[in-house]
Amino acid sequence: MPRRRPYAVAMRTPKTLLIVYHSMTGGTRQMAEAACAAAQAADPAVAVRLLHASEAGAADMLAADGYLFATPENLAAISGQLKDFFDRSYYGVLDQVNGRPYALLVCAGSDGQNAARQMARIATGWRLKAIAEPLIVCTHAQTPEAILAPKQIGADDLARCQALGEALAVGLGMGVF
Ligand SMILES: Cc1cc2nc3c(=O)[nH]c(=O)nc-3n(C[C@H](O)[C@H](O)[C@H](O)COP(=O)(O)O)c2cc1C
Repeated sequence: MPRRRPYAVAMRTPKTLLIVYHSMTGGTRQMAEAACAAAQAADPAVAVRLLHASEAGAADMLAADGYLFATPENLAAISGQLKDFFDRSYYGVLDQVNGRPYALLVCAGSDGQNAARQMARIATGWRLKAIAEPLIVCTHAQTPEAILAPKQIGADDLARCQALGEALAVGLGMGVF
């Protein structure tokens, strides 16, 4: 008859990181994908979901334990499609995600600060906890042609996105947030 072990074996509750993004010319998408791949590699026990803003909603927010939002700055704001995601989800999530961790990626032509400010206001409403400063990548697109051209995010900036994705996954897995 095998004897039962006299101590409890510590079990980790599986965690989910939700990444919601929108991108017009590919920059934000590359940033979100880099963060996603690094998060998946950092802790295989953390499920990482990468959703386009048009596919995401309140149920996805409620089912996750931490969040990474990724947006271009458009007209000194988060992009319309990410805003639409928040508009559709806001009241279905309110008071049910208090204290959960989040971070933000912004892909901007030359600024990005207003998108970050707007996101902070939304996160305050949801009582989310920022675990890092907004990560802003500037593509330096200034002319209409450059702004509408496909973007290629540099390796250094992608590495910053990877580090943030990794930190979110590791922190969620360890339960330190
Ligand atoms: C309609 C429009 C408005 C924009 N407004 C801003 C802005 O307010 N501030 C800024 O820094 N960049 C602005 N940009 C530039 C984009 O943020 C930049 O091109 C960024 O790389 C887009 O990200 P994406 O490649 O993920 O679409 C704007 C671009 C468009 C198309």
